[in-house]
Amino acid sequence: MGRGRPTEATPPTTIRAMRPGDVRHVVAIESASSAVPWTRAMFLAELGRPTSIELVALRASKVLGYLIATRHADVWHILNVCVAEDARGQGHGAALMDEAVSRGDRYAHLGYTLEVRVSNSAAVRLYRRKGFVERGLRPGYYSDNGEAALIMWRSGAPEDES
Ligand SMILES: CC(C)(COP(=O)(O)OP(=O)(O)OC[C@H]1O[C@@H](n2cnc3c(N)ncnc32)[C@H](O)[C@@H]1OP(=O)(O)O)[C@@H](O)C(=O)NCCC(=O)NCCS
Repeated sequence: MGRGRPTEATPPTTIRAMRPGDVRHVVAIESASSAVPWTRAMFLAELGRPTSIELVALRASKVLGYLIATRHADVWHILNVCVAEDARGQGHGAALMDEAVSRGDRYAHLGYTLEVRVSNSAAVRLYRRKGFVERGLRPGYYSDNGEAALIMWRSGAPEDES
């Protein structure tokens, strides 16, 4: 259920900055999707930080997914990407990643990094499609089951030499 190519009648996906009013929808998706869910306070803490990118994906004004990234020194760290289970496989995850990279590339010299469960093949495929490559493993990274994290990396846009 829920997977499948949208028809011509399907409204387009919109990506915009997350607002405080989105957070209860975001938390509902997060709680249903993650073994170690972020809390409302954690999402609210990210909102409006100049060093953060917080995005939501909407279709027909309904929040279907979100992405949080934060800038540390010379890298954007993608902390959380999630799409509601019944809305997966329709390009929302890809659209969120594209917008995050577009915003992050305003700091053209920065790269991007993230951790992902080694078993999370859907997410790893998405990140590979978006230019991320595997750069290492953190054994025991996830506290719920001791699973290892794959560390992935993507370069930023080349610096403008003009
Ligand atoms: C990982 C995750 C964010 C991907 O989101 P998504 O919206 O399903 O991603 P996309 O739709 O962009 O891409 C997923 C698949 O749908 C396919 N797809 C993309 N656009 C599509 C469309 N319009 N119609 C049908 N399929 C489409 C993609 O080709 C891709 O196929 P694949 O499974 O063969 O790789 C989602 O699975 C999720 O929320 N998982 C739970 C949370 C999680 O694991 N987050 C990552 C933590 S690091």
